Amino acid sequence: MTWPSRRPWSWAEPLRCVRASKGPDQYPHRSACRCPEWCALISTVIRMSRSQPDRTVLVANQKGGVGKSSIVSAVAGMVADAGRRVLVVDADQQANITVSDLGVEGDRGRALSMALQYAEPLEPSRDVRPGLDLIPGGAALALVGAMAATAAQAGLDIQANFAQTLGALCERERYDLVLIDSGPGDAPLLDALLQTAKYLLVPTRDDDASLSGVELLAARYLRARQAGSTIQLLGVVLFDANPRATARNAEVLSQVDQLLVGSGAEIFSSLIRSDRAAAVDLRTRHLTPSELVIAAEEHQRHRIQRLRQKVGGGDRLWSRDPSGLAGDYQALTREILNRLTAAEQWNVTTGAVS
Ligand SMILES: Nc1ncnc2c1ncn2[C@@H]1O[C@H](COP(=O)(O)OP(=O)(O)OP(=O)(O)O)[C@@H](O)[C@H]1O
Ligand SMILES: [Mg+2]
Repeated sequence: MTWPSRRPWSWAEPLRCVRASKGPDQYPHRSACRCPEWCALISTVIRMSRSQPDRTVLVANQKGGVGKSSIVSAVAGMVADAGRRVLVVDADQQANITVSDLGVEGDRGRALSMALQYAEPLEPSRDVRPGLDLIPGGAALALVGAMAATAAQAGLDIQANFAQTLGALCERERYDLVLIDSGPGDAPLLDALLQTAKYLLVPTRDDDASLSGVELLAARYLRARQAGSTIQLLGVVLFDANPRATARNAEVLSQVDQLLVGSGAEIFSSLIRSDRAAAVDLRTRHLTPSELVIAAEEHQRHRIQRLRQKVGGGDRLWSRDPSGLAGDYQALTREILNRLTAAEQWNVTTGAVS
């Protein structure tokens, strides 16, 4: 991603440009487009066919803190920004993406929990961002995990309930993309998600514990497929990495390759760089990465004014230029959409069961 480091114009411009256009199919809406990277993302989005009933991507790793929620929030925000309809399902009792990333209070996971247990229809929180709907997560999901152990005896089929309620919602709303964020634990719920989702994306850090999480998940994924799931492994993405540590990154990626032998998975060439300052801002201000770039630009613009007015540190942003991080997410989003399109084309030509 070269643009953020050499951009002579603001990141806010392409976003305004996209929002001002008459819709994704009309983009670019003017000839002298000065936002080529966004243009590339938008054209990738345009190539992605309109809503597919099974374009459901589960983001999972049994290890915590590997970037699952951060990636779901960023990718969902970018695809929605590009004019497509996105649904985020927060299937984590911690509700990090609901509360911290998207800044939604939610229902503490009650609606999702009722859908999983009793197939009650799902009703999303609408337009938490333009074009982005959310099924909130939260503590009520702990019940589902607890019940799952005895679910069969109690006549509950969490996986069938989830497939039915999510399917009905997607048919009604015709989302272009559904992203499911999962928690680090709760294996029974994870198994239900692996049975329902069509694609799996696995983020990892480069430490041994995270890589063990990848290994555990790969085994779970293969078991899910043996049990009849049609889920496909979209790839593994390196999170919180140093883009300059090329030798180390190559070593980690080859380790991941070995862990995934037999799964058919490929590693994403885009990685998400370490940026702790931006990470703090994203969560405390409940922003997606592209929103943070705009906020940082506004912040810089009004710095002198704020100094004059002696506005205190409460308004402070820790990150100076989060556009590098946002650029990583932009590249990852493009890669994900390209892989989805390729997988869909492959499924059509080979007549693979969907
Ligand atoms: N680019 C980044 N560099 C460093 N840290 C980051 C970055 N982005 C996010 N973080 C931080 O990394 C931590 C883990 O991120 P995140 O919550 O997305 O992971 P997770 O896999 O969803 O975790 P959990 O399993 O607990 O749900 C968070 O504290 C987040 O603020
Ligand atoms: Mg999370």
